[in-house]
Parts: sequence; C-alpha cells; structure tokens
Amino acid sequence: MNRGRKQKVIVFAFWFLIFTHITGVTIRAEDGYRLWLRYEPLPQETINTYRSHVTSIVVQGRSSSLDAIRTELVSGLSGLLASSVPLTEKIEGNGAVIVGTPASSSLIAGLGWTRQLTNLGPDGFRIASIRLGRRTVTVIASEGETGALYGAFHFLRLLQTRQPISKLNLIQKPRLKLRLLNHWDNLDGSIERGYAGRSLWDWDSLPEKVDPRLRDYARANASIGINGSVLNNVNANAKSLSPEYLRKAAAIAGVFRPYGVRVYLSARFSAPIELGGLRTADPLDAEVIAWWEKKAGEIYQLIPDFGGFLVKASSEGQPGPHAYNRSHLEGANMLAAAVAPHRGVVMWRAFVYDPKPGYDRAAAAYDELQKFDGKFAPNVLVQVKNGAIDFQPREPFHPLFGAMPQTPLMLEAQITQEYLGFSNHLVFLAPMWRDVLESDTYARGPGSSVTKVLDGTLNGQRLTGMAGVANTGTDRNWTGHHFAQANWYAFGRLAWNPDMSAQQIAHDWIKMTLTHDYKAVSSIAKIMLESHDALVDYMTPLGLHHIMWGGHHYGPAPWWNKEGRPDWNPVYYHRANERGIGFDRTKTGSNAISQYHPPVRKQFSNPATTPEKFLLWFHHVPWDYRMRSGRQLWNELAFRYQRGVDWVRAASKTWHSLAADIDAERHAAVAQKLAIQERDAVVWRDAVLLYFQTFSKRPLPAGVEKPEKTLEEYKATSLNW
Ligand code: GCU
Repeated sequence: MNRGRKQKVIVFAFWFLIFTHITGVTIRAEDGYRLWLRYEPLPQETINTYRSHVTSIVVQGRSSSLDAIRTELVSGLSGLLASSVPLTEKIEGNGAVIVGTPASSSLIAGLGWTRQLTNLGPDGFRIASIRLGRRTVTVIASEGETGALYGAFHFLRLLQTRQPISKLNLIQKPRLKLRLLNHWDNLDGSIERGYAGRSLWDWDSLPEKVDPRLRDYARANASIGINGSVLNNVNANAKSLSPEYLRKAAAIAGVFRPYGVRVYLSARFSAPIELGGLRTADPLDAEVIAWWEKKAGEIYQLIPDFGGFLVKASSEGQPGPHAYNRSHLEGANMLAAAVAPHRGVVMWRAFVYDPKPGYDRAAAAYDELQKFDGKFAPNVLVQVKNGAIDFQPREPFHPLFGAMPQTPLMLEAQITQEYLGFSNHLVFLAPMWRDVLESDTYARGPGSSVTKVLDGTLNGQRLTGMAGVANTGTDRNWTGHHFAQANWYAFGRLAWNPDMSAQQIAHDWIKMTLTHDYKAVSSIAKIMLESHDALVDYMTPLGLHHIMWGGHHYGPAPWWNKEGRPDWNPVYYHRANERGIGFDRTKTGSNAISQYHPPVRKQFSNPATTPEKFLLWFHHVPWDYRMRSGRQLWNELAFRYQRGVDWVRAASKTWHSLAADIDAERHAAVAQKLAIQERDAVVWRDAVLLYFQTFSKRPLPAGVEKPEKTLEEYKATSLNW
C-alpha cells in the first residue's frame, strides 16, 4: 500500500471507530460463536410488550452460580430489550425479576413455595408472575442454584422465542437425571470422530491457563439442561487419571461448576498396570481393588463433585475384564465400589461384541450383558447405543432396552455425525432420536416405550440418563456446520424432556439462532425435519447399514472388504448376491430378532409386516421383491437414492431463496456445505447403485439419473475430509 492510501485507511478507521462508539453500533461477525444465546434486540413492538415486565433483576445471595445467573440475565435481558436492565438489591418497582432458592433469597423463602420446590428437586424450577406486596413481579425459583439457573435460561428462551411473559405460571423438572456429553477427545488435542476442529480442552496449557471459551461451553450446556461432560475419549489413555492430568481436569471442573456441569472421566481398565505399576488389572485382585479405591479418593480430593467413570472395556481392543477371564459384571462392580463412597457412578458401555461361531454383531451386546440384569451394583448404569450396530443413519432400537428391567439403562446417542456426513451434511437428528425414544419394546405389554425405560417409569429406576457423543470443537462456530449446532441443542432438550417434539425443538432453535421471519422459520423447519429421512435415502435406504468407506466412514464403499474383522466390512452387512440383498436376522438367519419381545419379534420376522425402513436390516430379499409402492425392490432402491439427491437439490434451492432472511456470513457458509452435500449425495447414489447393479443385473429405472462416473472410478475415490 502506498503512503497516501495508508493514511486514508487510518483516517477512515479512526472516524469509523468514533462513529460506532457514538451511535452504539457494534459490528459483530455472524460466525455462529454465540450459538442459540445471541440476545440480539427484539423488534420494537415486542420490546414494548415486555418492557414493563422486566425492569430489574433481583438475585439475592452470593455464590458463583448466583453470579452466573446475574451475568446471564443482565446480558440476555439487556440485549433482547435493547436497553440496560439493572441489578437491584431489592424490589424497587413493578417488573422486578427475582431469581434464586429459598436458601439464597429471603424473598423466595417468604413465598411458601418451599415444599413444591423440594418436590421439583434441585434441577427443577417454578416461574410465576405474582403480586409481592404492592408490586407485580416475576419469580424464578428452585430448590437448587442450578435449577434457578435453568429457570433463568428458560425465561430468556421465552423472550427469545417471543412468548407471552405477563402471566406466567409454570413448573419444569428434568425427566432424566444424568444429561451428559461424551467427548471422544484425546490428550493430544485430536478428537476421535470429531469434525469441528481440535479439542476444546487445551491439556498442555492447563491447569495454569484456562481458555475463557470453556465458560461459554458451560453456559451453552446449562442453557439446555446438560449437567455433565465426560472429558476424554472412551478409547481412553490411562494418563488422564494421573495426578498431573487430574489437576488439569480439576481446573476445567472449576469453570463448569457454577453452571451445574459436572466432570466425568473415561477410565482405562488397565490403568492399575500403566499408572500403578501393578502386574495385573484383574478386577478381583486385591491390589487392583485397592488401587482403584485410592485413585477414586485422589480424584474426589481434587474434584469433590466428580461424577464418575465411563468405561469401554473388552471392546474393540480396549483392555477389560475378559483379559482375566472375568465378566463385564465383575469389572463394572469393582469400579462401582471404588466410587460408591463418593456417590460416583459407573457408566458401563454396552458397545461390546466379541465374535463367536455363527456370530451376528447386532446380537452380541445382548448376548454378553443381558444375563447380568439385576446383578450390577446400584451405582452402575449400562450405557446402550440407540441401535445394536453402531450409530448408523438408521437403526431399529437396541433390543437391550427391553431386556434389562432391573438395570438402569442409559441411552447413548451420537451427536457428532460419524456416519452421517461429518460436519458437511445438514441433518437434524432429533427425528431419528425421537423414533428410537418412541419405539415400543413391549417389555411390559404395549406402551413400554424406550422413553419409559430411560426415565425410569417403566421399571422403577431412579438412576436415569442419556449421553450424547459431542460434536463440539475449536471451530469458531463450535460444530463445523451451523446446523450441527441444532443437534447439540436438540440432544439437551430431549435429555431434559424426551417427549418434546422434533418440530418444537427445531422451531425454538431456528428462532433463537437464525431468524424470526415466519415464512423463513417454517421453510427452515421443513428442511430440518425432512433432512434425516433424506440422508437415509441417499446413504442407506430400506434398512441397509454400514456400507461406508472403511476407517473414516465418510462416503460409500459397499464393496469394502479389507478390514481384518469381517464385521468391520460393508460386505458383511449387506450380503448382496445375485438372488438379492440384506441381512437375514430371522430364524432362518442369525435369529437376532429373538432378542425382541414377541410382538416386535413377530412384526420383524415377516418381510410383509416389517417396516420397509428396516426391511434389509432383518431380511435377505430378492431383487424382484414387490414393495408397498408396487415397485420391485431393485427399482425401489434406485428410486430412494434418486429421491435423496433430489431432496438435497430442493433444500439447496429453498436455502438460496432465504438469502434475505439470514445474515450473509452464515447463509453463505451453509450454502457451501449444501453444495458439498449435493455432490456427496450424487456419489452415494451412483457408487452404491453401480455396485449393487453388478449383482441385480437390472437397468436403472426411468427417472434415476445416469451415473456420472464408472464403478471403478468410484472405487478409487475416497471422499474423506
Ligand atoms: C465406533 C467408532 C469408534 C468408537 C466406537 C465406540 O465404532 O467408529 O471410533 O471408538 O464406535 O463407540 O466405542
């Protein structure tokens, strides 16, 4: 730049700063950092209706959680109402918003709500518009400070989604006790199956330096009711339990604590050997038992509210009790005893699959764990993935949900899109999770839904929970794709209330995050609500599963046959041959369907009654099998792949038409991702159909586009990102 030009730029920058300072205009990048907690000014007419109900904030008492409530409400309410809402010590007029607990606030203690708040528990809350003396006020109250914080976020959400707030009277309490994110983060900063940058935990700088971003992470979690984070990968490094790393974890716990987010760790089963120098990690060995007890004591010294251990053991090469001829039960109960005195829990993962003759991986977890029902220590939860294989785009519900009535079962959902297009594809996962939650296990007759198993109402469990494998990372927008934020959000809302509809969640999220324009909200919600079905169409329709590229799992490779274990190869799952395609899990095949209760078993055992979305999951079906549409299977398969591609194109078009309703930065970023999604959907359609065509030997039906490349070309192209 020449000197004259440089001077001009400096002068311009100077006046620009003066101008923005005087006018109060702040220019913020719309980079998605603020997630759904944006607190942009509401339209003036909405502000006018709210203003008299929100004149000041009264939070009595001192604690870090009460400080968090104050900070959030001041910034949230002042932002939304476009003028400062002050903190006051006492009620100074109508419109005070009073927040706290009977213990922290004399105003709340004086309301006579204590009994009701006790019933709602420390995470529940009541919000009511009441008269207090001569004043009309809003009270947000809970038995616990975390509940009061949840109430504050709920109140903010009411404003963010423009709900009436003048006559409030509502109560809420979470249906599940543990609402956790599982981070598959490694100590070197990488994230297993992470697609949004590096780990948020900068282990090298901790504990001395704690990234301020962690506070925003905790805020975001608290705003949707998430109350715990497992910090490290289930494929755990024993070092996470070393004194050095425990001090680092304690520093993180210190940031999370005011927000009610407790820290948990994945425990490597062989840690007594690797860290303790013992000869064995045998769960019945006295020294091993003593080592874990001591370790637990050490952890609780540093992190008094430590939540407990998540354990992947004797699974995919991870150490575990099987190495010592001990069972999952013995392993889990040994660890449970170590944390029990501190009220910690053990979440023992059901993702276990040791091969044996005639083996079907879908049946393995049930085979290995069901027999231990009723035998686990009371502080053990068995953490079960939504389906029996592995976070496929669509799976029928895991049979274990109907089979362990005397064991607290936790659902493990995957928020990160390992098999669902990484952070490149727009797919809203709430509809998929809702399908699983609503599935009827028939464990106690009709109406025995997975939700009722999880929330404890079916079997009288008190220890309940749901875990989501996190999709967060150091990307500025946290999740890589702006719409992937909605999956983090949806997970939290569903863990709080598993009956919440996907539509409601989508609408709330869009309004809080993207736009309030009525037409835009409904167009975007439509895209979101259809997106999962569409993705299944172009990836794995009709019950196909695990036909992804080996290793990275992005893009199609139904031909893949290179992994050492047969059940890591797509050919194991689709079983295509000249007669037909699909995995026979009925009596004539692996008989995995016998793990379901009779009504479900009966439905799934007959192709004619099996929902078509699961047809090839349970049956090997001839290519000319007549589908409900009247088409033959081969044609239906092709039709679905094409339908998936068409959907992406249509969604892209709709998105482009919304340019005026969304800020340019996020609009462009999503448009670019949709272009990748379209390209990938085409590759999926072409590669899979070309490959299966080598067996079906049938032409592509009318309406299905001609493949862009040859099968050989697709086989040579890994789409990995
Ligand atoms: C999948 C995933 C692994 C992960 C495993 C698990 O198989 O590909 O990366 O470790 O699930 O859930 O333990």
